[in-house]
Amino acid sequence: MTLLEVETLRIQRASGVGDPLVAGVSFTVEAGEVVGVVGESGSGKTLTGLSLLGLLPDGLTATGSLRFAGRELLTQTPKAWERTRGAEIAMVLQDPSSSLHPMLKLGEQLTDHLRLHLGLGKLEARARAVELLERVHLREPRRLLGQYPHQLSGGMKQRVSIAIALACGPRLLIADEPTTALDANIRTGIIGLLDELRRESGMGIIFVTHDLAMLSSIADRLNVFRTGEIIESGDAQRVFRSPQHPYTRVLLDAVPRVPWPLPKEIRA
Ligand SMILES: Nc1ncnc2c1ncn2[C@@H]1O[C@H](COP(=O)(O)OP(=O)(O)O)[C@@H](O)[C@H]1O
Ligand SMILES: [Mg+2]
Repeated sequence: MTLLEVETLRIQRASGVGDPLVAGVSFTVEAGEVVGVVGESGSGKTLTGLSLLGLLPDGLTATGSLRFAGRELLTQTPKAWERTRGAEIAMVLQDPSSSLHPMLKLGEQLTDHLRLHLGLGKLEARARAVELLERVHLREPRRLLGQYPHQLSGGMKQRVSIAIALACGPRLLIADEPTTALDANIRTGIIGLLDELRRESGMGIIFVTHDLAMLSSIADRLNVFRTGEIIESGDAQRVFRSPQHPYTRVLLDAVPRVPWPLPKEIRA
């Protein structure tokens, strides 16, 4: 079964004033697939992601259809949304600091999250937290649990926020520019990690980024957003090799070509 089917999603101001911010986009995500999303800023990428968590900003409404594992999300109750968020669909944001509390040790944040969502006891939650930090390839996980976010580098913080997103074993991960704030080599590590997670767990990933060179190494399909619409979509390699829309060509011309697939040593 298709994991996610978005059909003519429109996001508008509830007042009805102005053009729609997302003007009827349709796309699908299969289990284990990485769907790349690119497009200029303000084109509706983040709002599309937020609508999949039922977290649109106040004053905005979504219509159309968001079918997740065969079930319609848009009409579900607030209680059902709570179960969807985290447990089925999770999101990683551009700035890892925004998903971490500055005043709490990582151990408290991770174990609180695990106890709340999975109903684990204190010791179990701590053991699971260590496992999750290992899963995202952070060294000395036990020591990390005693640290505050400001003691970590940006790349480490992003790994922790990915660990939190993975905590409940979501089937779909929305990564919204997760590497924009990071250095190039750290960025490569995060991309490799996401690629590994989808291969191991069959998690579907919507990967929003400006980094087309990176996407060319991990995306199976590509959706190009422009002013609230998807103006081009298709098999990622096809789009990279022969973009049909003039806007996609402009985007691609601005990107240095990278070897594809990425050599094994930098994917790991
Ligand atoms: N809370 C909001 N109220 C009204 N308009 C918004 C709100 N949030 C975002 N927008 C507008 O919606 C459009 C799409 O935004 P967004 O999805 O964040 O774009 P992207 O992620 O592609 O950069 C932009 O024009 C933005 O200004
Ligand atoms: Mg955005």
